[in-house]
Amino acid sequence: MKRSISGIQPSGILHLGNYFGAMKQFIENQDKYEGFYFIADYHSLTSLTDPKALRENSYNIVLDYLALGLNPEKSTIFLQSDVPEHTELMWLLSNITPVGLLERGHSYKDKTAKGFSPNTGLLTYPVLMAADILMYNADIVPVGKDQKQHLEMTRDIALKFNQQYEVELFKLPEPQILEDLAVIPGTDGQKMSKSYGNTINMFASKKELKKQIMSIVTDSTPLEEPKDPNNNIVKLYELFATKEQVEEMKNKFIAGNYGYGHAKTELLNAILEYFKDAREKREELVNNMEYVEEVLAKGATKAREIAKAQITAAKKAVGLIGNAYKK
Ligand code: ADP
Ligand code: TRP
Repeated sequence: MKRSISGIQPSGILHLGNYFGAMKQFIENQDKYEGFYFIADYHSLTSLTDPKALRENSYNIVLDYLALGLNPEKSTIFLQSDVPEHTELMWLLSNITPVGLLERGHSYKDKTAKGFSPNTGLLTYPVLMAADILMYNADIVPVGKDQKQHLEMTRDIALKFNQQYEVELFKLPEPQILEDLAVIPGTDGQKMSKSYGNTINMFASKKELKKQIMSIVTDSTPLEEPKDPNNNIVKLYELFATKEQVEEMKNKFIAGNYGYGHAKTELLNAILEYFKDAREKREELVNNMEYVEEVLAKGATKAREIAKAQITAAKKAVGLIGNAYKK
């Protein structure tokens, strides 16, 4: 069976962009691929320096994974930091990765352009991501479009390692990006992102969810007048409603006498309906954290078995004679 691998950083609360851009694919891949889905907690240390928030976010993501339908019987669910071989492999990969490649990273460039003084982790972030993927010889990596360049870097790094050491150790992974869901817009119309404060969070309380939806930016066209049927609300409504329902909403906007507030209420109801089961399941899981811990422990054991074999092969390839994993 081919392998699918992906991770999400616990740098905040998950939102519709994470779900439609990435997680939904994890869940749909479960029967077609051997899945490895992790919480990229080491990655989030590049931007998150609050230990309490990191702990809470990490648990929140596991709960979200499970509530939305990732099945630990089918997929391996684990914390990146429970598999220290990831950082070990990162070191080996760092030494064949040109600094120039990393300096050209969009994410690195964007953050530095915003005046953010970068730490080393931010620059070498893609090397750790390459290690995450190459560790398991993934065939595909389901992600949102913003991760495409990181996947290209992973392929470059894998190729360089294989060539440098004349081995065929690392498989070149393919990104799995759903083009029509590549960028989910946030409440302000920009890409929905934890760092822009424009998210809609599927597991927020009803009150909070309502607040987020009501904050979707619209223009000031008066209620009676016709409105643009391709506005932000409709773009989000499309994720949840049938084609007919979307057409109906668009027609109401075109006809006039239909306000943005009405549409927002329809969107809220559609979101609550869509995530009804997941929201209920999450409530149950919160009361059963022992089970959640068990899932993570089992996932880490399974992932480490593979990681140990791969790191041993990688160390051997570069000429390290380490004894740690020798029988
Ligand atoms: P954020 O930008 O909120 O910090 P992450 O970088 O942690 O999100 O992204 C986790 C996953 O969700 C990645 O695969 C990313 O591509 C996807 N993703 C995040 N935001 C969106 C969005 N607005 N549209 C589509 N996919 C997204
Ligand atoms: N960089 C990814 C993001 O911000 C998270 C991530 C870390 C990841 N390691 C990965 C995604 C490996 C896919 C595969 O979304």
